Amino acid sequence: MLCISVEEFSFWKKKQLSKGGDEQSFAVLLDCVGGLSTSDLNLKIINPRETLHLKKNLEFLESVWDDHLLKSSPIQYLCGKAFWRDLKLIVTNKVLIPRPETELVVDIVFKIFRRKSEKLFFAELGTGSGAISIALALAYPLSKGVVTDIDQDALEIATKNYTNSSKQSNLKFYCGNWWSPLENFKGKLDLAVSNPPYIPRDTYEKLPKEVKNFEPKVALLGGEDGLEHIREIIQKAPFFLKEKGWLILENHFDQGEKVKQLLIKNKFTSIEIVNDLSGIGRFTIGRYK
Ligand SMILES: C[S@@+](CC[C@H](N)C(=O)[O-])C[C@H]1O[C@@H](n2cnc3c(N)ncnc32)[C@H](O)[C@@H]1O
Repeated sequence: MLCISVEEFSFWKKKQLSKGGDEQSFAVLLDCVGGLSTSDLNLKIINPRETLHLKKNLEFLESVWDDHLLKSSPIQYLCGKAFWRDLKLIVTNKVLIPRPETELVVDIVFKIFRRKSEKLFFAELGTGSGAISIALALAYPLSKGVVTDIDQDALEIATKNYTNSSKQSNLKFYCGNWWSPLENFKGKLDLAVSNPPYIPRDTYEKLPKEVKNFEPKVALLGGEDGLEHIREIIQKAPFFLKEKGWLILENHFDQGEKVKQLLIKNKFTSIEIVNDLSGIGRFTIGRYK
């Protein structure tokens, strides 16, 4: 444990940020490696004579920060943690770092199912770190969720995140291709959500190196046109959803209209393209009949 004055800490922090990077990533480093949360820091930082306590010394924190800057390695992978909604999730390079825009998937569900006492039966396809399912399982404690991913390592991380976040056991995890592990639940789901890999191949090749060199390809690449997985999920969804069950998909910034057409072709109704906070049609939702 290191004790340091606010004054000395502020000087050191300014020096680190002058080398590059952003405040948000630095906050992840301080919280997840240094054990100093942003709220604690904000409480103390106004008084230069206050003392801060850090779990690691400044040299160690600086070495992680330098690694992040020099290798473009995402700070979440270096720290092993990511913040998402009100969750603090374990992440390794086996799972996508859950993105802030994906947080809205949960808000879309809240708008559709307004009562938190709802006994939903939901599925999440391609759970990665487990972020979406865990948020839903916590918000709707009487619900049950079945959660899939093709990658067993990702499922192990999602399971750990679930047991760290919840005392309940209302999520079950299955390994396999999209719907295939859920054969037993045909016609039973009130809701299915997915943020599948949707990046078209040519865009994937040009992704920034902090994404392409570190995050799993299987979590990003959506085939030639980016819609390979979305097509499969939509085509099979009618077998698994209850009548009037909802499907909520995240898609690439320019795929909303195409996803809408796929939903129409597969007999979905109440179809809507929902914007993210930047006004991009990031989600497409519909009901099966
Ligand atoms: C874009 S990531 C989303 C992860 C997480 N749900 C999130 O929003 O942060 C897509 C996930 O789908 C999984 N995936 C890819 N292909 C799959 C398939 N054929 N069947 C099931 N899951 C798949 C990946 O392993 C990855 O975890």
